Amino acid sequence: MTFTASRPSNIPAALPLLPGALPLVGHALRLLNDPARFLTAAPAHGPLSRVRLGPLTATLVSDPALTRDVFLDDALYDKGGPLYDRIADVMGNGMLACPHSRHRQQRRLLQPAFHKDRLPAHLDLMAAEITDGIDQWQPGRTLDMAAQAQALTARAIVSTLFDGTLDPATVTTMVQDMSAITAGIYTHALLPAAYTRLPLPANRRYTRAQRSLRATLGRIIAEHRARTTDHGAFLSLLTEPGPDGRTLTDKDVSDQVITFFIAGMETTGNALAWATHHLAQDPSLQQRVHAEAATLPPGPLTHAHLSELELASRVITETLRHYPPVWLLTRTVTRDTTLGDHPLKAGDTLVVSAYLVQHLPSAHPSPHHFDPARWAPPHTTPPVPGSLIPFGLGARKCIGDTLGVGELTLALGALTRRWQLTPATAAPVRYERDIVIRPHNLHLHLQPRHRSA
Ligand code: HEM
Repeated sequence: MTFTASRPSNIPAALPLLPGALPLVGHALRLLNDPARFLTAAPAHGPLSRVRLGPLTATLVSDPALTRDVFLDDALYDKGGPLYDRIADVMGNGMLACPHSRHRQQRRLLQPAFHKDRLPAHLDLMAAEITDGIDQWQPGRTLDMAAQAQALTARAIVSTLFDGTLDPATVTTMVQDMSAITAGIYTHALLPAAYTRLPLPANRRYTRAQRSLRATLGRIIAEHRARTTDHGAFLSLLTEPGPDGRTLTDKDVSDQVITFFIAGMETTGNALAWATHHLAQDPSLQQRVHAEAATLPPGPLTHAHLSELELASRVITETLRHYPPVWLLTRTVTRDTTLGDHPLKAGDTLVVSAYLVQHLPSAHPSPHHFDPARWAPPHTTPPVPGSLIPFGLGARKCIGDTLGVGELTLALGALTRRWQLTPATAAPVRYERDIVIRPHNLHLHLQPRHRSA
């Protein structure tokens, strides 16, 4: 099947059910256990197909133009479906999960935190935190890079959210709680509710972590409101009166902080881990990324160096294509409509996937090959619209996209400037099911670089 930028037509009225559905769970286990295989097989069944997630039958969109249509009309295709129901359990009315009706007001309130004038300060803070973390690694050690990368990006997001006043024990508890929550979200979204209510250790961890995180944030917000000094962190913005003079309640502030924390930590942590995986697999690429960063003056990298980290930035783009951290999203249809020429009913659930469109051979030749050269100028955007969407599209597009890419590029520059990475084991790196596609068994060996290398 060939995919083009134009919308597919003649979609059959009765959409095909994807093969392999099991009683009760439908396709959920196949999707959770091997998302890559499941999603890359789906387009062969047409631009739209049916997928069963527990008791729910949803429509899976396998075409870039239709995926774009879904993202770009956020009133018609609103946040909703099992994934967003679970995300809303965790993030409440935070900006990521809130419905269209509440979104614009929130986006207006929070946009100033991401204004281009503020980004340099955020990026410099993030790069300094990450460099400090990287400098503490020991030569000759083997690192679990998924955990390390996440620890680095957690430090980075904490530094921008709070004003450096959190004690390390609080940060550790929050990161552990976040990880337990994100590890459970897709399972809770895709498996039947009866399973997720069982008194299993994983279910108990998920519930306990949510309670613990809310309690920690409640304390931090109360302490922050009681302080008189302001260091310009996100938390200050959230606790100040908005343009209409209204102040957010503690619950609203807590919802937004959880949103930023989850959205900004897991995504970047996993992208950084996958980028290091590919550099360790390809010594020549790693050497070139190192050489680029090694030409920069000594001292911490800052936002001013971004334009000189061209190859590092292409490695990040290719990582976000190959392993889009947010690999699957759901939407709810709000009124009867047609997608392509296929009728949909109000209340239908749609599933869209960056992983799926970013592995279409028609849009990205040899899609399973990791190749930063795809993005060498002038090919900085893909020829097929809607086929590179790691940050989504339209009004709900990631508010932290520039910040996240800048952070990752500086992190990769800092890391390759200081360390040489080699695989510590021949065991294959696998995916772990999670809200992000997380690398499992990514153990890398570290050797220091010398500036002349
Ligand atoms: C590589 C890094 C990142 C990736 C791949 C990523 C991905 C995404 C995606 C796919 C969405 C859209 C979800 C949807 O349409 O349903 C999104 C939304 C969002 N992201 Fe990110 N994100 C990243 C980094 C960040 C960072 C660093 C922050 C904040 C510090 C952040 C905060 C948000 C927020 C608040 C939203 C909701 C935006 C809205 O609905 O208006 N993200 N992100």
